[in-house]
Amino acid sequence: MTQIQLPGLVDAHVHLREPGYTHKEDFTTGTAAALAGGVTTVLDMPNTVPSTATPETLAEKVTLAAAKAVCDVGIFVGATSSALDAYLPVAHRACGLKIYVNDTFGNLRIDELSSLHRLFRTWAERASEVGGFRSERSPSPASSRLGPIAVHAEDLMVPVCLYLSDLYDIPLHIVHVSRRSEIELIRAARERGSRVTCEASPHHLFLSTADLPRLGARGDMRPRLATPDDVAALWENLDVIDIFATDHAPHTLAEKASETPPPGVPGVETMLPLLLTAVHAGWLELADIVERCVDAPRRIYALPEQPETIVDVDVDAESILRDEDMHTKAGWTPFAGMPVFGLVERVTLRGRVVYEDGFILAQPGSGQVLFQHS
Ligand code: NCD
Ligand code: ZN
Repeated sequence: MTQIQLPGLVDAHVHLREPGYTHKEDFTTGTAAALAGGVTTVLDMPNTVPSTATPETLAEKVTLAAAKAVCDVGIFVGATSSALDAYLPVAHRACGLKIYVNDTFGNLRIDELSSLHRLFRTWAERASEVGGFRSERSPSPASSRLGPIAVHAEDLMVPVCLYLSDLYDIPLHIVHVSRRSEIELIRAARERGSRVTCEASPHHLFLSTADLPRLGARGDMRPRLATPDDVAALWENLDVIDIFATDHAPHTLAEKASETPPPGVPGVETMLPLLLTAVHAGWLELADIVERCVDAPRRIYALPEQPETIVDVDVDAESILRDEDMHTKAGWTPFAGMPVFGLVERVTLRGRVVYEDGFILAQPGSGQVLFQHS
């Protein structure tokens, strides 16, 4: 039994589904699942109903999160083709701008060059009005500055977004990189000085097309599971992967079993045991987890420190991941049946024990919504 203490983890990519899809997840259940996985900060995506694409919808989401979350929450804004720039007045209150450039769950999709160009240009203009980007060192308060643009990029959209980010000098963060072609292009861009960062999700690191016959719709997400060679490419290029983030995208089992299953899988509470299992196998160091799940997301999104926040973990505890142990409202995991090392025993957030031995001890509303004080 080896007990260790980690800082509270950040999951920089979750879909907590509220408002609009609270039969799948809500701010309380989604952040409870986060705590169970040693995650004390989540960044929530805008593909809810309504989409988080206007000052009013952001305000509504902030109110819900402030009343219901049990860990800290940052909120992304997104663009819709009908309200392309509507979020701009509140851009500094979001953790970043998420642009969907391909087909996915929900109706946020921008795939015309003119709209994409305008989003990058106006984000850069707004940044100069409010004093720059948060990732830049500057004496002015971080909360009045803008976060990066995060793109859900696949294939040829990666070079398009890299180019626009270089053109306007905007920090670009590419989410769920899953293919050899993508990670190799990002490496090349980085080596030539691009301001690009990226993230990979545990399902793309630990599952592949070889698992699809077994998983069926439980293994369907966007981007889809990739080939074993793509998975090998992610591990070979670990030094280019800034962040591990889950793309926690819960749908109910009934929805997944339907004729038209929506893409997406839950993941926020299984990330740490999977990564600790990789440490056990010698594929990762503990420091790699802290860098990618704490330090890098804090740097990239300029997240505030969480004082007196500790995750107590037994790194040698063995268990088998099971649907029935999940805290997500969806109640399942694509990793069910997988043996893992590492058990989160206790989570302390700002000096208070908020999770212990499988139980959530925090009150709804005890989590903070980030970037609202400006
Ligand atoms: C996400 C969802 O369900 O919200 N699904 C997914 O497969 N990743 C949407 C998304 O992130 O594109
Ligand atoms: Zn997502």
